[in-house]
Amino acid sequence: MKIVVAYSGGLDTSVIIKWLQTKYNAEVIAFTADIGQKENPALLEKKAISTGAKKFYFKDLKQEFIDKYIFPSLKASALYEGKYPLATALSRPLIASNLVEIAKKEKADAVAHGCTGKGNDQVRFELAFKNLAPELKIIAPVREWEFRSREEEMEYAKKHNIPVDVTKKKPYSIDWNIWGISIECGVLEDPWQEPPEDAYQITCSPLKAPAKPEYIDIEFNMGIPIKLNGKTMNSIDLINFLNEIGARHGVGRIDMVENRLVGIKSREIYEAPAATILHTAHAELEKLVLERELYHFKSIINQKYAELIYYGYWFSDFRLCLEKFIDETQKYVSGTVRVKLYKGQCIVVGRKSMYSLYEEALSTYTSKDTFDHRASKGFIDIFGLPLVLEGKRNRKQ
Ligand code: ARG
Repeated sequence: MKIVVAYSGGLDTSVIIKWLQTKYNAEVIAFTADIGQKENPALLEKKAISTGAKKFYFKDLKQEFIDKYIFPSLKASALYEGKYPLATALSRPLIASNLVEIAKKEKADAVAHGCTGKGNDQVRFELAFKNLAPELKIIAPVREWEFRSREEEMEYAKKHNIPVDVTKKKPYSIDWNIWGISIECGVLEDPWQEPPEDAYQITCSPLKAPAKPEYIDIEFNMGIPIKLNGKTMNSIDLINFLNEIGARHGVGRIDMVENRLVGIKSREIYEAPAATILHTAHAELEKLVLERELYHFKSIINQKYAELIYYGYWFSDFRLCLEKFIDETQKYVSGTVRVKLYKGQCIVVGRKSMYSLYEEALSTYTSKDTFDHRASKGFIDIFGLPLVLEGKRNRKQ
């Protein structure tokens, strides 16, 4: 039996390699995707092979992640339950599809992941596997294995010479990529507890952030950011830059209780400076260029789109149909938004676009006003007619 496993280099997936080998008498191949989590591939390979993997694959998927997953979600203003920019959720279908490719190339019989039985990620991985390669057996060792605690797992690791970093106390479970960081467990499990500073991995506390605000001009072309402060940047550099500068100003901290797919409510914190800045700026530009009814209706689509990502419905016709709608709405979402980063906040202070629907002559209260005030009477008479009829009827009852 040949199994390809989604490998992170952490304790769980390291133990999984050995466990699969023993339990299934399998040849195990490890795969790690580079999605901006800043791991050293040489070290990962060494670790995977020494733990028992026959082969190690490492793929730089940062560009694919941005082009095919992150930017479509940005165009859709996809924030789960209004807050979470979906960094972890977006990465799962990307990792899964690349894993399937390797499994096919290697003529593997099965794929495996290290997700727990009570999270969302197992669902996202497995829906992708089932959709893309139903012939592959799916193994989720963490759901199956005999260890009842972290200690037992560490015991197993020591017995099998799997390097365990016991010096580093790890009170949190952390998932990291270029679009954001998800942090849970430890004291965060009490939703009343304010997250301690050490829970945050990259952002500076707003208290300690610079006293001087920083301005950034972000230029979008059809919903996609292309320039910062007038300078064209490739998308990887652009996101990295915004992560850095945002983190410095304490921007992008999110503390929320969310509804998981498996019914549980969980408390999680996120750090997503670039995602926060880009979502804020992009949404503001849409307000300037989208016609009112389209803008309102799109917000309903946005919410559904975010849910589909969260639910692991990435490879569904449903999501694809919504993506087509969203792409069409982005035709005129080009222009520049100026944001101000200051003490944990990202505030929009200016916006402009060659496709702007804003007309000063219509909104001004000065003598330059061109709006036909008298026409409003007829408009209100007719627009209000249904309510006039209803009121008359109700008074009769
Ligand atoms: N709750 C987030 C989601 O379902 C993140 C899950 C992974 N979090 C973590 N800390 N490992 O997308």
